[in-house]
Amino acid sequence: MAATRGEFSSRFGFLMAASGSAVGLGNIWGFPTNVASNGGAAFLFTYLLLVFALAYPALMAELIIGRHARSNAVTALKSISTNAASKKLAVGVGFAGMITVALILSFYTIISGWMLAFFFDPLARLLGMDEFAQWLTRDTSTRNIIFVGIFMLLTVMVISAGVKDGIEKWATRLMPALIVILVLLIAYVFTLPGAMEGLRAYLVPDFSRVANAGLLINALGQAFFSLSLGVGTMLVYGSYISKQENLPTIGGLVALLDVGIAVLAGMLIMPAMYVAQTNGVEIYDDSGGLIAGPGLILSVLPSLFNSMGSMGILAAIAFFILMTIASLTSSISMLEVPVSYVIENHKVGRQRATIMIGAGVTLICTLIVFNFDSLFDRIVTITTEYSQPLLGLFFCIFVAWIWKRDGVLGEIKQGYPDAESSLFWKIWPVYIKFICPLAILMVYVELLT
Ligand code: PHE
Repeated sequence: MAATRGEFSSRFGFLMAASGSAVGLGNIWGFPTNVASNGGAAFLFTYLLLVFALAYPALMAELIIGRHARSNAVTALKSISTNAASKKLAVGVGFAGMITVALILSFYTIISGWMLAFFFDPLARLLGMDEFAQWLTRDTSTRNIIFVGIFMLLTVMVISAGVKDGIEKWATRLMPALIVILVLLIAYVFTLPGAMEGLRAYLVPDFSRVANAGLLINALGQAFFSLSLGVGTMLVYGSYISKQENLPTIGGLVALLDVGIAVLAGMLIMPAMYVAQTNGVEIYDDSGGLIAGPGLILSVLPSLFNSMGSMGILAAIAFFILMTIASLTSSISMLEVPVSYVIENHKVGRQRATIMIGAGVTLICTLIVFNFDSLFDRIVTITTEYSQPLLGLFFCIFVAWIWKRDGVLGEIKQGYPDAESSLFWKIWPVYIKFICPLAILMVYVELLT
């Protein structure tokens, strides 16, 4: 079995794949939105702190387990379990991760479908197909189902091609493109009137809000969602890393890339909102806060692009390509979690496994589309605010309390022979054993009360 497993062919390949998973709607949409509604840079600071103090250690836990076991999440957690009880827990956590990731993929595919539709809208207008363009931007179940189907097809096509020829190949093409488009869009928006006011709102902190409990919950949820933690994604990607790689370093690079792109995205979205205001677009909601959520991406920004003439058409195309790329490199990492399990533990071929699971998730999407008001927000909250941090906590427990310390160190030493005397090994084990679980629990209790 081991011989037939895929592996990333280079460090760059892994970095692009893992940062592709991390960088997604969470960075370009969720992060700026959270900044806008949580006191600007106060959120930014708290977020940075939480990413490096809590999310990075948890990311390392997943990468180390994955590379050690070289298998899907269920088998990997079982392989480091030491008794019958922890083996049962392993299966429970592994399956809970797969269910969570399938549900995340469902709502993610719906949003990604919107991004695709909004990408086609300016193209349709360019071709004079105004009626089609209107249909594309009208929120109907038919449109949503069709674009769910198209986006899922893209995801399935990449994943059925495998680790090297699918995930790595596409991530190494798409991620550099994403960064270039993002930087070009920022440069352009900066030239427009109103942009600097937005930048100020983004970067000037309202420190009175840093210790706020709601802000902490949002920032932790955002950090776990953004680094794709708790659901086995990073574990599975970790299982495809070569044994020659220095894990703490490449894990750190992934976290840095993720944060860097989120911060950059804020420098696009916040200025763009204030440019929109200058152009007469309403950017505050009824309660006086900046418009966040779907209203921001599907209404404020398109109105901005519409007010910008022909440059607006180009900007709209670039922006929604950016969103689609960000979505796709994340959605493939989600689909890979259950697919790797079915391939390895049920001896099903990759293509069949991918199509089966892709079809199953599409079915869940359909259910959500037709019961949008009652299901969508609920699923987002349950999976990202409750399930992900809690599962992240279990990953920490597995590494720190269940797996033998020598085993952990041995794995890190592969590719990092001096690990034992490193700063990482002095700090990380304590973090993962006490600080991460405690901090996650504290935020959790806050969430429940
Ligand atoms: N990290 C992705 C984002 O920021 C979302 C994601 C969550 C991806 C969980 C994989 C697993 O959009």
